[in-house]
Formats: sequence, structure tokens, C-alpha cells
Amino acid sequence: MKMDIRVERTQAPKEKPGKGADLPFGHVFTDHMFIMDYDSENGWHDARIVPFGPIELHPGSTILHYGAGAFEGMKAYRKEDGSCQLFRPEQNAKRMERSIDRLCLPHLDADTILDLVERFVAFEQDWVPSDFGTSLYIRPYEFGCDEPIGLHGIQKAKFMIITCPVGNYYKEGLKPVKIAIEEHDVRAVRGGTGDCKVGGNYAASNRAEAVAEENGFTQVLWLDGVNQKYIEEVGSMNVMFKVNGEIITPMLTGSVLPGITRKSSIEYLRSKGYTVTERLITAEEIVEAVKNGTLEEAWGTGTAAVCGLSLRLAHRLGRQKELPQRRRRHLRLHRHHELLCGLQSSYFVP
Ligand code: COI
Repeated sequence: MKMDIRVERTQAPKEKPGKGADLPFGHVFTDHMFIMDYDSENGWHDARIVPFGPIELHPGSTILHYGAGAFEGMKAYRKEDGSCQLFRPEQNAKRMERSIDRLCLPHLDADTILDLVERFVAFEQDWVPSDFGTSLYIRPYEFGCDEPIGLHGIQKAKFMIITCPVGNYYKEGLKPVKIAIEEHDVRAVRGGTGDCKVGGNYAASNRAEAVAEENGFTQVLWLDGVNQKYIEEVGSMNVMFKVNGEIITPMLTGSVLPGITRKSSIEYLRSKGYTVTERLITAEEIVEAVKNGTLEEAWGTGTAAVCGLSLRLAHRLGRQKELPQRRRRHLRLHRHHELLCGLQSSYFVP
């Protein structure tokens, strides 16, 4: 579906962050946003780029009560020649189509999502920052806006895109952060929405993350919802470990998000000759690998936080005890990170 887009330019353009500017994740928004409405009579209509600002919602809107909303996170990079490029956006668009269908939101096909993202980013491209490791974070999202508060099929919705120039997600950058193994809450269950990008997965993780923070940890290591035994993700990222020379990562069981950075890292690491295995991984096995010194590295992969972390694992299984960590392990991860950023932005060919 090729939408006509009406454009209303801002009369008050903001100053764009210059070279070397501090870009805390998600704080700075570009001048415009994209909005398109859906209702069952007219289908998708009134696609428009308008000045960035608050939107009006009926207090009964489905999204406010039942969390009927799906989103994506993707990035545009400034290349050395000054042009911009998106990193594998067709994969985000496909995943978004799947998330929308999982929640029975009004359908939008991947080609339309991709086309709208490309056109909106082209419109805002002056906002794509150029420092190494920075990018324009792109957040497309769709949500239900039906006014009656009964639970029913969704007849009204909005699809929007907002964009933010960003640097590192975590203030620690690539330095090791303390991670607690979460034993009580789970972020998702098989058959639920863990393999889709929907707000509820993230809302469900708030409590554990708050408790972890109160106890001096930066994030939690999520275990599966059935046995609370197998590692699924870390914080809002997929997770990888290097044990005895082999890279292992949780297999996609249905409650793990099929991350595009995860897939790209696996392909990239394999192309560099690493053995990468996707399988069930128990928390106990990683704790044991920390204790016996075979855990060489651990890191998270996400779009917002690209290969962001090297983990200082702490075992919370009732004991809140920090496990010994070898010094300076994150340096090698740093190299992976540079190579992956290079791949995404074509700053250099690895
Ligand atoms: C992303 O990595 O793009 C996400 O959507 C995670 C979010 C917590 C920023």
C-alpha cells in the first residue's frame, strides 16, 4: 500500500545536536512525527508528517486500558560520505507486521511499514548524527484507540513514527555492569507475546528491574517462564556468552525476542570463524562457568543497546552474592562492538 503523505512543517525548528554532543538515549526528539489513522470504515487514511508534539487521545482508548500496542526499534546511521543508511529495516518491518497481527491490531503489511519509515527518515535525515557510535533511533508504533472500554476487536487505531538522535543506551557504555539472575518474575511465557515487540513484555519487567536497581544491579538476567531455569534475555536485550572458546546464545523458544542485532551478530561472528551455538542454556551452567573460569565474555545485543554490556554476573539465588569476575574481559567485547557498529554504519569494512 503506497500512502499519500501530507506534510506540515514546523514553524519552530530546534537546533540539531552538533558534533560531540551528549545524546542520552531517547531524550531528544526530532522536529516532526508521522501519524496515520485507521477506522473500520475508511481503513488507513490521513497519513501526515506534522510538527512533533502531544497527541489527543480519548480517555477510553484501548491502548490505555488493555495495552493494545506494538512497536519497533531501528536505527539510521550517517555514513562517511555523508549519506544515511538504515540497518536491515526490512527485518524490523516484518517483525512489526507479526507483532501487530499477534495483538489483532488493524493489519499493516511489512512493505508499507518499511516504505513509511524510509520516507519519514528521508524527511528528517538532517537529524542523523555523525559521531562514531551514534545514530537516529526510529520508533514506529501502532496502538488501538477504540473509545468504548469493553474488551472487543479493535476498530480504531493510529500508526506513528517518532525519531531521536542517540548515543549509548547505558551510561556505562561497554564497561561491565552488575547483572542479577532473576528468580521470581518472568518477562514472557511461551504462547504469550515474548517473541513480539509489545509494550506488555517491557511493563512486566519493570518490577524485577526496580528491585535489582535497589540492590545495586544495573539489569536482570531473565529466566524462562516454565522452569525458571533456562536463560532467555538480559534486560531488554538478547544475550550471548563465550565459554571455552564457543559462543552460546539462548535458542528462540517462542518467549525470546528474535532480535535483528542478535541474528546479525550470529551471522557476523560465524563469518569471522567463531562457533556460535543456539541452544537451551541454564543459569547454573553459566554460574559454574564463572566459578571455574571458563566464561570468557558475556554481552547483550539489542537495537537500542548495540552489544552494550559485558556482564558482572551476580547470583541472586537467595544469596545475593557477587561471583568473581576476571579483570579486563570487556576489552575483547569492545572489539566486537566496534566491528558491529562498523558493519551497521559502514564506517569501515571489518
Ligand atoms: C530496542 O532495543 O530497540 C528496544 O526497543 C528496547 C527498548 C527498551 C529501548
